[in-house]
Amino acid sequence: MRVLNIVSSPRGDGSASVAIADAFLERLRERHPDVEVDVLDVWHEDLPEFDLVASTAKYKATRGRELDEAEAAAWGAIERLAARFAAADRIVIGVPMWNWAYPYKLKQLIDLVTHRGLLFTVEGDTIGPALDVPLGLALLVRGQAYPEWGGRPPEQFDHQSSYIEFWLRLIGVREVRTLVVEHTWDDLAGPAIEWGRAQARAMADRF
Ligand SMILES: Cc1cc2nc3c(=O)[nH]c(=O)nc-3n(C[C@H](O)[C@H](O)[C@H](O)COP(=O)(O)O)c2cc1C
Repeated sequence: MRVLNIVSSPRGDGSASVAIADAFLERLRERHPDVEVDVLDVWHEDLPEFDLVASTAKYKATRGRELDEAEAAAWGAIERLAARFAAADRIVIGVPMWNWAYPYKLKQLIDLVTHRGLLFTVEGDTIGPALDVPLGLALLVRGQAYPEWGGRPPEQFDHQSSYIEFWLRLIGVREVRTLVVEHTWDDLAGPAIEWGRAQARAMADRF
């Protein structure tokens, strides 16, 4: 089983999402000794900018037009990243909530790889997945909890799960499981992270 583990916290050993993902992967390895994990850490990976050259390459490549040398190099780097998704049997993604959403470096990765013909398809007016990944896991970590806050209902604060789950499904993760762990930066952090690790281990038993 090949697992693509996307890491999107920059906090290394201090990261709740990494600690929870590691507990999950450790248990998964115990249960499936053949498991291979490809760690795609958006903060350590040399992610190219999606700049003029890369965006020109996208517009040309997705329309079947010829790329110049610089564009071909930029598109090649994008294709190599997308190939790591295509090689995965499972996707496990750890996502800290940043400003009610997710870290911008994760969005850079998403913008780099998510193109028509690479991670999704468009035929007529039908949009479909380009991947066929049976199962994925989104580990969503939040510093605090969101009951009604400042007169706003809880759902107004969550722009994390909706987008991450939508994106995973759109590119072809057939079943997306989610673990939300809150209170990772307040007084409840210790027990909250331990709870998350235990939940993650239990989820690995059924992955
Ligand atoms: C830039 C930044 C923005 C954050 N924004 C939020 C937020 O909107 N809501 C929240 O509950 N926690 C927020 N947090 C707290 C993190 O979600 C929390 O510390 C979490 O544990 C981070 O994940 P990590 O430990 O894997 O890095 C923010 C943290 C940072 C660094």
